[in-house]
Amino acid sequence: MNLYEEMIPYLLKWYDYNARVLPWREDPSPYHVWVSEIMLQQTRVEAVRGYYMRFLDELPDIRSLSECPDDRLMKLWEGLGYYSRARNLKRAAQVVCEQYGGCLPDSAEGLRKLPGIGDYTAGAIASIAYQKPEPAVDGNVLRVMSRLTGSRECISLSEVKKRMTSELRAVMPAERSGELNQAIMDIGATVCIPNGAPHCEECPLMHLCTAFREGTVSEIPVKEAKKQRKIEKRTVFLITKGGKILLHKRPEKGLLAGLFEFPNVAGAIPQKKVADTVTQLFPEGTLRITGVRKADSSKHIFSHIEWHMGAYAVETEPAGRRKLPDGYVWAAPAELKTKYSLPSAFAKWNESTKEQT
Ligand code: ADE
Repeated sequence: MNLYEEMIPYLLKWYDYNARVLPWREDPSPYHVWVSEIMLQQTRVEAVRGYYMRFLDELPDIRSLSECPDDRLMKLWEGLGYYSRARNLKRAAQVVCEQYGGCLPDSAEGLRKLPGIGDYTAGAIASIAYQKPEPAVDGNVLRVMSRLTGSRECISLSEVKKRMTSELRAVMPAERSGELNQAIMDIGATVCIPNGAPHCEECPLMHLCTAFREGTVSEIPVKEAKKQRKIEKRTVFLITKGGKILLHKRPEKGLLAGLFEFPNVAGAIPQKKVADTVTQLFPEGTLRITGVRKADSSKHIFSHIEWHMGAYAVETEPAGRRKLPDGYVWAAPAELKTKYSLPSAFAKWNESTKEQT
């Protein structure tokens, strides 16, 4: 018996008593598992809980998701990040309704053909929702398996991931495969943690664990150093008129595609240049600026880039009858709450986003 086979009964027993209580585990229908797994990509369980509940309240089945207007979908995803996940989810729901009679495929291979579903998510859905003996290998699983086996191979390499996946596939039990995968996920999230000391004394695999026995837990897993993120300075303008604030819809392609933002420009603009800079964003006579004050600055970290943002409150009063250019709207506070989706990068200046996330 190899370590992969040996670990299984200990993991399942541990899961019986220690599984985290999570909303998507209560009724693991294919749709529920799918939505939860997409939300959980690159996102912590605690951040997902509330979004998951609100999403299902409004979109209880695949058909309602497939018909959800894009702006509403973005509002439901507001603050969760990686918005292309939501767009892919809807596109996949449309494919499922049009080509699969409204039922999510039940094999990992069929699932992988849908937008937004890669190896990990396909394995998670196939095992948790359909009890298929498929592994679901992400960074957490790679860490737990590397420590268990004492492997010093670099887990950033796709060959290493492929090999661990096939070794796990070879031992997946015919029953309880979803629980086995989730047991490893839970161990990775709560016991065999990545930063700081893992809680080896609570681990059901301690007696089997090579890294524990050899005292190398802090050295494993080996992975490639992360690339430094690019830092970009930006300046955000909180432009108000009466009780409303100006929003801009971002282009349909690229970072934060199609979401709303407070108008902003690249670079750190000094206060004395703010009025000119803002005026130049619009056709002449669109805005009449009556005051500029410094506002709180903020930082936002994306996967590859960091925005370091200064901000100014820019008061304006009605000027002529010029219409705003396309993509700009004056939003009332209630509309910011319910209608326009503002990503977390701008949450610092948006009371309604702050309450929700
Ligand atoms: N992370 C990704 N999928 C998960 C799941 N089903 N349970 C807990 N954590 C997860």
